[in-house]
Order: sequence, then C-alpha cells, then structure tokens
Amino acid sequence: MHIVVITGSPHRNGTTAALADAFIEGAREAGHDIFRFDAAKEKISPCLACEHCRTKGRCIHDDGMQELLPVLEQAEMVVFVTPLYYFGMSAQLKSVVDRFYARNAALQGRGKRTLLLAAAYDDNDWTMRDLVGHYRTIVRYMNWHDAGMLLATGCGCRSDVEKTDFPDRAKEMGRHLGA
Ligand SMILES: Cc1cc2nc3c(=O)[nH]c(=O)nc-3n(C[C@H](O)[C@H](O)[C@H](O)COP(=O)(O)O)c2cc1C
Repeated sequence: MHIVVITGSPHRNGTTAALADAFIEGAREAGHDIFRFDAAKEKISPCLACEHCRTKGRCIHDDGMQELLPVLEQAEMVVFVTPLYYFGMSAQLKSVVDRFYARNAALQGRGKRTLLLAAAYDDNDWTMRDLVGHYRTIVRYMNWHDAGMLLATGCGCRSDVEKTDFPDRAKEMGRHLGA
C-alpha cells in the first residue's frame, strides 16, 4: 500500500517523531511503501485564499506542497502525526491541510484510509477531544475512511512516550494495516 505520513512537529526527535518512526518501521516490515513528509522541515506557505487555484488551475505558491500533492493524490493511506497544540493540530500540519484546497476534488474519496497519531502533555479525558473531532470532520468531508487513532496523552516529551507502550502500539498499527 502507498502510504503518506505527514508529521507536524518541529522536534526532529520529539514525542510524535517516536510514534511516526515506530509506525513507519512496522509498516515497512509489512511491505508498505512510505512517503514521509515532515511539514516543519519544509517551506509551506499558508493558503492565501486568493482563489488562484480555482481561476488558473494551480496554487500561487511554489513550495513543498508541489512535491507532496501528487504523491498524496496517489496515496491509499494518509497518516496525520501531530503534537497537540492548544487542543488542535500543530500549525505546521494545519498549513498542509489548508493547502489541500488547491487539489480538493482530486484528493477527495478514492478509497483513501487515514490514521491519526498524536501526543499531548495532559492526560485528561477531554485532552484530545477537539483534535479528534476536527480530524474526524476532515476525514468525513474528504470522503476518506478513518482506520484508527493513537492518542498518546500524558506524554510531554520523548522520554515520557518511551516509558509507555505507545511506540510499540504505533509499530503494531503499521504492521497490521491490511492490504
Ligand atoms: C505551542 C504548544 C502548545 C501545546 N498545547 C498543548 C495542549 O493544548 N495540551 C497538552 O496537553 N499539551 C500541549 N502541548 C504539549 C505538547 O503537545 C507535548 O509536549 C508533545 O509531547 C510535543 O510533541 P513533539 O515533541 O512531537 O512536538 C503544547 C506544546 C506547545 C509547544
């Protein structure tokens, strides 16, 4: 399966990187093809809502999305990886999602499945509520299919998450994706 993993943390070796790395390791072991896109390492300009994409057929920006969008269109699975930032996804990941706008119709549907891997310092029963709601709504709007979530609450840094079974669970998710 062609899988695109989009990470949203500026920490190269942070909490969510541990989840992403473990997921990718498991998925590669199971024979899947991974394209990893670290949004925080890329130049991604925010959508200007200029409608250039609607009138001229292409986004006015020339940046990292030019590499991501064609791969995303062909992907069978999209994995969103983000630290929780004020109860939502990071701005780095949100900037990527907003830029779906230029290719919305080409991205929607097509049987794509999605996963959410997220981490947060807090561990309240409502910590991830709004991130999960937003993720589910995006997936519904895109006519994609949620295939699972891993919500690593109580993990403020990499050493926290490494004391839990979340990385192992991320690896297992990668190993057991089906065809
Ligand atoms: C700007 C910012 C906002 C944050 N907001 C929250 C939050 O709303 N709730 C929470 O539990 N943790 C919050 N955190 C903590 C991070 O989610 C947490 O440290 C996470 O492990 C970072 O993952 P990373 O190393 O992959 O970036 C925030 C951290 C930052 C820098």
